[in-house]
Amino acid sequence: MESILNNRPALAAEVNKVAEVAGYLWQKGWAERNGGNITVNITEYVDDAIKAMPAISEVKQIGTVLPHLKGCYFYCKGTQKRMRDLARWPMENGSVIRILDDCASYVIIADHPVMPTSELPSHLSVHNYLIAKGSPYKASLHTHPIELVAMTHTKKFLEKDVATNLLWSMIPETKAFCPRGLGIIPYTLPGSVELADATIHELDDYDVVMWEKHGVFAVDVDIMSAFDQVDVLNKSALIYIAAKNMGFEPDGMSQEQMKEMTVAFNLPK
Ligand code: 13P
Ligand code: ZN
Repeated sequence: MESILNNRPALAAEVNKVAEVAGYLWQKGWAERNGGNITVNITEYVDDAIKAMPAISEVKQIGTVLPHLKGCYFYCKGTQKRMRDLARWPMENGSVIRILDDCASYVIIADHPVMPTSELPSHLSVHNYLIAKGSPYKASLHTHPIELVAMTHTKKFLEKDVATNLLWSMIPETKAFCPRGLGIIPYTLPGSVELADATIHELDDYDVVMWEKHGVFAVDVDIMSAFDQVDVLNKSALIYIAAKNMGFEPDGMSQEQMKEMTVAFNLPK
């Protein structure tokens, strides 16, 4: 079958990473039904033949103007598509879009006219912000990790850096591999431009942000690394819950131990 991935091994490798991560999200129980979405900036893999590909959809509005995305290309999970299906058939459950010159609209170019995720305003606003900042990050992930979302159902974990410090203190790796912690965004309508604006604001200080009572949004160089940051945070939440289930409040690593880690691993905070 004709596919944009044919004879483009580097692009195929990026899409295959998305498929692998989609399988993990399903296995972890973080991707009920169509839950969660992924986009990857694939502009660096675009050749003249891709640039010449005609649109296979009508022109769609993003809902906001994103000046740094002019001429960019993204792989996007399809709206209402399941991660467990995407894991096996990434080009049937996602598509490649081209941002048009007005920086406010896009068309689908391959392989099939699969409508991108309803969270596209947040994903594209984040990519626009990352390019403006000169960031090497190319992938963004939204998912519904059970234990982390559960923590947002109480006020104390919504205060700035309370959840971050608790999660960091459960096991040294969490601070080492999610060194900027977990930002918190108060409940906002899914798919809205307001949620997109709040997300880019919070990504100034964090690589992973929590949408209260909904899910996380994570960014990194590729989709595997974005997944890893969420995975280490949720592991810490599981350790916290396991201790609580054994009937005690976990001590956590001490402030001195955390400081020692920060220096030894040369961490930013
Ligand atoms: P989509 O199926 O539109 O990607 O939505 C899933 C989701 O998690 C919305 O927040
Ligand atoms: Zn969601």
